[in-house]
Amino acid sequence: VCEDKSGPLISEILSTLGKTEKYVLVPDEKEEIEKALIHLCDEEKINVVFTTGGTGFSPRDITPEATKAVIEKDVPGIAEAIRQKSLEITEKAMLSRAVSGIRKNSLIINLPGSPKAVKEALEVVIPVLPRAVEVLSGHTLTCGGNYWAGW
Ligand code: MTE
Repeated sequence: VCEDKSGPLISEILSTLGKTEKYVLVPDEKEEIEKALIHLCDEEKINVVFTTGGTGFSPRDITPEATKAVIEKDVPGIAEAIRQKSLEITEKAMLSRAVSGIRKNSLIINLPGSPKAVKEALEVVIPVLPRAVEVLSGHTLTCGGNYWAGW
């Protein structure tokens, strides 16, 4: 078992926005990751679920696959924005296959594994998180296409 530095770092960076409700360490097993994600979204009703690591090319890197198996809607813009900004910092950002998506009222965002990458990626998404959570949790009146959802 190795020490996870990036999980606690995510909590620390996000502490300015709100509190981290849950921290779960899961082995690199697709089913285990899926189970944890489903639990956090469906039972714990966490607004935003961050994963860290397992987005690369090694045989054990299956976090994007587990995420894709449980999300109901893809949110490509978040993964695209993280990759775009990260590419300005390092071309190795191409090696992250991270995805983002929505399950029920939760947003799941894959982050790469290194503390450096976590910091860089969070800087990209933090500005939009309040708005994302507001709309997802239904606490806002939103006119989207031909429907009204809200309050
Ligand atoms: N993204 C940012 N912003 N900064 C980084 O240093 N490292 C990359 C990439 N994304 C990096 C980054 C590297 S070296 C790898 S291998 C991939 O993320 C995948 O990392 P993971 O397998 O730990 O998820």
